[in-house]
Amino acid sequence: MAEEAKKLAAYAAVDNHVQNNQAVGVGSGSTIVYAARQLILQHGLSLSDLDRHPELDVAIDGADEVDARLTLIKGGGGCLTQEKIVAGCAKQFVVIADFRKDSKVLGQQWKKGVPIEVIPMAHVPVSRTIVRRFGGVANLRMAVSKAGPVVTDNCNFILDWKFDGAQDWTEVNTAIKMIPGVVETGLFVGMADRAYFGMEDGSVQVR
Ligand code: 5RP
Repeated sequence: MAEEAKKLAAYAAVDNHVQNNQAVGVGSGSTIVYAARQLILQHGLSLSDLDRHPELDVAIDGADEVDARLTLIKGGGGCLTQEKIVAGCAKQFVVIADFRKDSKVLGQQWKKGVPIEVIPMAHVPVSRTIVRRFGGVANLRMAVSKAGPVVTDNCNFILDWKFDGAQDWTEVNTAIKMIPGVVETGLFVGMADRAYFGMEDGSVQVR
């Protein structure tokens, strides 16, 4: 059911937002795979990078949670920093998700908290500062094997901050980014232009 919903959202986003000869940014995760497949099949996608294409026509990506104002939590897969850079380079940023990601208020659906990428030597002070200032708990993300922390594509660690209740996400995002040692947060505030949700009944809802 959820797999079908991911595919519906991905296909709708590609159909409505991608044209031939455009520079398209994609993120990572199980939902964007469907959009990437569609892009390759429909538009003959060829691989590039931000050195050659620093301006993108559109970026499409999944999300862990999307609230009523299109504020996102991303980084469940640990790629938040590179995904935020790609989204920031795009004229239009389109989110695709299945119905489970749709939320009025962040924290209702995604229970693992906001991922925050940190410089490894700073993970303890950053975690303490976040909890002191904003409450909740901020845990170092461990590898599934428990052999050690998850290491990102940028050779950093991830804290998962489980917050208490609703927050002013613009303020919180800015404040967390100012803490020495923080590389990036998984809060995408004011970045998404559209979200496509594949629904259980086979429809697609657009926000
Ligand atoms: C990776 C991400 C993903 O986009 C997010 O976790 C959603 O993944 P999926 O489509 O598999 O549910 O932010 O860092």
